[in-house]
Amino acid sequence: MGKILVTGGTGFIGSHTVVELHNSGYEVVLVDDFSNSNPKILTQLEQITGKKPVFFELDLCDERKVKEFVQSQPDISGVIHFAAFKAVGESVREPLKYYRNNFYSLINLINAFDSSVNLVFSSSCTVYGQPDHLPVTEAAPVKKAESPYGNTKQIAEEILQETCAVTPSLKVTSLRYFNPVGAHHSALIGELPIGVPQNLVPFITQSAIGKRGAIVVHGNDYRTPDGSAIRDYIHVVDLAKAHVAAIKRMEEHQAANYEVFNLGTGKGSSVLEIIHAFEESTGEKLNYTIGPRREGDIEQVWGDVTKSAELLGWKAELDIKEMMLSAWNWEKYLQKNPF
Ligand code: WQD
Repeated sequence: MGKILVTGGTGFIGSHTVVELHNSGYEVVLVDDFSNSNPKILTQLEQITGKKPVFFELDLCDERKVKEFVQSQPDISGVIHFAAFKAVGESVREPLKYYRNNFYSLINLINAFDSSVNLVFSSSCTVYGQPDHLPVTEAAPVKKAESPYGNTKQIAEEILQETCAVTPSLKVTSLRYFNPVGAHHSALIGELPIGVPQNLVPFITQSAIGKRGAIVVHGNDYRTPDGSAIRDYIHVVDLAKAHVAAIKRMEEHQAANYEVFNLGTGKGSSVLEIIHAFEESTGEKLNYTIGPRREGDIEQVWGDVTKSAELLGWKAELDIKEMMLSAWNWEKYLQKNPF
């Protein structure tokens, strides 16, 4: 069982994956540049795991520094690559920032390992756009991305697939996340949106705690049962466990050179259903209004997760109630312990 490098290891999904790697007996090295996370997460991780994280601050866009770092860590056998910019709206305003960061970091990483490593890549269901058929399977066509962020995920998958095809020493598993929400049951780590949350659940918890005003439901005129958009929300801890399963599969030489998996629950929930689920789970009353559709949003998506169950031996176990309760407990923790 080799040492695993987690890039973006103090981020939302990265930090939860560090915990699950620890729980599965892996030795972990974290790198981050804190461009979208907080150093305090390192202390939180130590509280949860009982071990001080092995951490290096590193700008993955600096080719020389990445090479030097990797050469200093000869016993790394696998990499889980989370480090990337991921704000859809910001990517539309600053496309070059997204293309530079998300591609330089990925290519520098692969080059630093001389293309000889097991790599888990953090991708997104956003590559499907609005699927023609639901639930969407991994075989569904990738559609023209609605944003530079989504485009970086699509192109990164192509870079990885084409490189793996001619590089037997490079194994890659791309994990297409649906909508990650919730927090670790300890409420010591969770989502840390910078500024006004763009994503639904962190906006809900900040509205409930009084940091934000009423929630605006972006459209209720979609062709869905209650008119609001549908997504496949998955607990971040379930998502983290899937990364461990993916690394394990590659380490046990079960994986093909390039594989893709959907990481969702296989169930869709509408915005209004999430709002009501939050209220029922927490007993908190939410204020919300109906607003216009949000530019770039798709109407509905949820994943077919058969392949992940069969080949990763993984399926999501935590339900919407646990997602809402854990997200709320984290928001309450932040209120008492501001980062
Ligand atoms: C979910 C639904 C909104 C806020 C994006 C990226 C995806 C991933 C997750 C990075 C939509 C509605 C939201 C609000 C609302 N990003 N909404 N009021 O857009 O499905 O996915 O974030 O990893 O790759 O594409 O997630 O949480 O922003 O929106 O009505 O205040 O909630 O319109 O229908 P999305 P989201």
